[in-house]
Amino acid sequence: AQSVERGDDGVLSVGGVGVADIAREFGTPAYVVDEADFRSRARSFKQTYDEVFADLCSGADVFYAGKAFLCTEVARWIHQEGLHLDVCTGGELAVAIRAGVPGERIGMHGNNKSVAEIRAALEHGVSRIVIDSFDEIERVSAVAAELGVVAPVLIRVTVGVEAHTHEFIATAHEDQKFGLSLSGGHAFEAARLVLERPGTLRLLGLHTHIGSQIFDTAGFEVSAHRALGLHTRIAKELGHAMPELDLGGGFGIAYTTEHDPLPPRQLALQMAAIVERECRADGVPVPRISIEPGRAIAGPSTFTLYEVGTVKPVDLDGGASRAYVSVDGGMSDNVRTALYDANYSCTLANRASDAEPVLARVVGRHCESGDIVVKDEFLPSDITAGDLIAVPGTGAYCRALSSQYNHTPRPPVLAVRDGVARVIVRRETIDDLLALDV
Ligand code: LLP
Repeated sequence: AQSVERGDDGVLSVGGVGVADIAREFGTPAYVVDEADFRSRARSFKQTYDEVFADLCSGADVFYAGKAFLCTEVARWIHQEGLHLDVCTGGELAVAIRAGVPGERIGMHGNNKSVAEIRAALEHGVSRIVIDSFDEIERVSAVAAELGVVAPVLIRVTVGVEAHTHEFIATAHEDQKFGLSLSGGHAFEAARLVLERPGTLRLLGLHTHIGSQIFDTAGFEVSAHRALGLHTRIAKELGHAMPELDLGGGFGIAYTTEHDPLPPRQLALQMAAIVERECRADGVPVPRISIEPGRAIAGPSTFTLYEVGTVKPVDLDGGASRAYVSVDGGMSDNVRTALYDANYSCTLANRASDAEPVLARVVGRHCESGDIVVKDEFLPSDITAGDLIAVPGTGAYCRALSSQYNHTPRPPVLAVRDGVARVIVRRETIDDLLALDV
């Protein structure tokens, strides 16, 4: 986060609040969000895309992908900063509604939305429902008929791009569950079927999303190019010029020094060039562009603060050794290392140390050996129980994917701004866990 600093005493602070004070007041583990940083990333996406697409399609819409991290307060920030919100379940929709986000600022995704979720979305007047299958054409149409509304829909297109990222989070190659195939003709057929139902469905446009944590802009370019090809074909062969085109999210962030973040402006310029060139060449009106970043807004704004409980030296083959540093959280609050082999870094947060750095592994308190938070990091050799460790870049898909594994209450989310830390999601308690048992 932008406002993280280390004082002369070595204590890390964020938004003007020291981590030792945060730990004392709110306990650990805790997710700590730099509110100004979160807001400025959101705002800058919107400004950048508005600027770059100003002449082409009078600006662009940025749908924050709530799946990365959502709570009522964050939904408010997104709305206040002028962004739209992408929800993919009735639960995320409920958060958006509670936060006061109007329907016209919400889009709904999901590859198997229930009738109840579609109904809730249409009742709230969402600005788009993204159709992900032939079944859904019927389902959304039926709910719209029941409510007496015309549902604005996009069609999610599988563009056949192999995104270079972990296979679990690549979404545009053919053999996976999302979208309707472009090359197989399914997406075109879906457009035809949607256009046959003008009383209940309005075809706004196509949607593509090739995956997540992507650094190579070539994948986005190929995807946009193919989507625009279909966009034109639908205009020409079905006589329907669609007013919108969603290019999805997936913009990679730096978790360690291994990567540089994908610069939003550069990608926006590349996208605008493709959209302009192809629409001109094909003689179709330029659709209004939207994108759906989640990780790139939420991820870098947050770190997780843990307290060290034990430090254990373990001898490795070849005579080296590694310090196993156990913290008071783990795979229940950050499963990404175990699930995607993700790389994180960390730092000693509560003091300075001149001790020699040693190879360390930060592990959690759960009952399996894969419960690793940071695989490899150099930490001062005098690290000890009671020290605080900060793991940066945990704002996206950590709290969102968290669990209560081993009956572990989930950590709170704290927002820090202008020298004040406050709870925006409270810590779970053992009573919360027991409350569901009948
Ligand atoms: N739009 C759609 C349709 C998506 O499915 C996603 C992410 C996004 C936008 C936002 O992608 P982002 O900009 O955040 O990369 N749990 C995994 C990531 C799963 C991404 C799911 N879809 C992880 O922790 O890496």
